[in-house]
Amino acid sequence: MEIPEGIVGAPRTRAGTRGEGEGSGAGAMRDRVIVALDQPDAARALEIARSLVGAVGWVKVGMTLYYAEGPSIVRDLRALGFKVFVDLKLHDIPHQVKGACRTLTRAGADMFTVHASGGAAMLEAAVASVTDSAVKFGVARPKVVAVTVLTSLDDAALTALGIAMPAAERVGLLAGIARDAGCDGVVCSPQEAAGMREMLGAEALIVTPGVRPAGEDAGDQARTATPAEAIGAGASHVVIGRPITSAADPAAAARAIVKEMSA
Ligand code: C5P
Repeated sequence: MEIPEGIVGAPRTRAGTRGEGEGSGAGAMRDRVIVALDQPDAARALEIARSLVGAVGWVKVGMTLYYAEGPSIVRDLRALGFKVFVDLKLHDIPHQVKGACRTLTRAGADMFTVHASGGAAMLEAAVASVTDSAVKFGVARPKVVAVTVLTSLDDAALTALGIAMPAAERVGLLAGIARDAGCDGVVCSPQEAAGMREMLGAEALIVTPGVRPAGEDAGDQARTATPAEAIGAGASHVVIGRPITSAADPAAAARAIVKEMSA
C-alpha cells in the first residue's frame, strides 16, 4: 500500500496502533517489538540477531554499534530479514543532518531518530532528505521519529541549561514542532505515550523504551512499564534491550514478551 507522508505515516507492516484490529495478533505484535542490540561490535550483534530471526520484526542499532561498524551493520541486519531502527539522535545544522539522512536511507534504515530540539529547519531538512534519497536509491522511505526531552533530563537539569519550561510541557512543544515539520512520530517514555497518542493522532509512530517484562528487574531504568502496558497506553513500538539480549535464550525471552503483549 501507499505510505502516506508526514506524521500520518503508518508502519510498513500495518501493525496498527494501540493493539487494535490487525495489530493485536502475535504476528503483528512481533512487528512492534524492537530489540536494542547494544553490543560493541558486529560479530556479537549479529550472533544475537541471528538467534532472534522469526521471534521479533525489528532491531535497534544505537551509537555504540553504529559508530563501531558504520552503515554495513544496517545492511547486514536487513539481510537477516529485520527492519532496522537506527538511533543516532541526529542534531546538527540542517546541511549535516541532510547528509546523514541520505546515508541512513541508502543503508536501508527503516526508521531513525532526530532531536526535535534541532529545530524546524533541521527537521524539515531530515524529512526532505529521506523523501528525496528514497527515490534516488530506489528504497522505501525511512520513518523519522523525534526525540523530545531526554529522559535523563529533569526540570532541575533543564533549568541549569537555561530552559525554564517544565520537562512535560517541553515534550509537548517539541513534539508539535516535529509533527509540523513532517516527522512520523516520537520516541517517548511509556508514561508519556498516552498524551503523545492523544496529541499526534492514531497513525503517529510512538516508540517507547524503558519497557520491562512483568516480574523483571528494572535495572537502571526508572519509571518502567510492561510491554503490554506501553502498547495499551498508545505505543506503536516498544524498545527492549537487556531483558532479551542478556537472557540465556534470547529468542525464548522475545517470544514470551510477544505472547504477553498478544494476550
Ligand atoms: O536494555 P534496555 O531495555 O534498558 O535498553 C533500552 C534501549 O533504549 C537502550 O538502547 C537505551 O539506550 C534506549 N533508551 C532508553 N531510554 C530512553 C531512550 C532510549 O533506555 N529514554
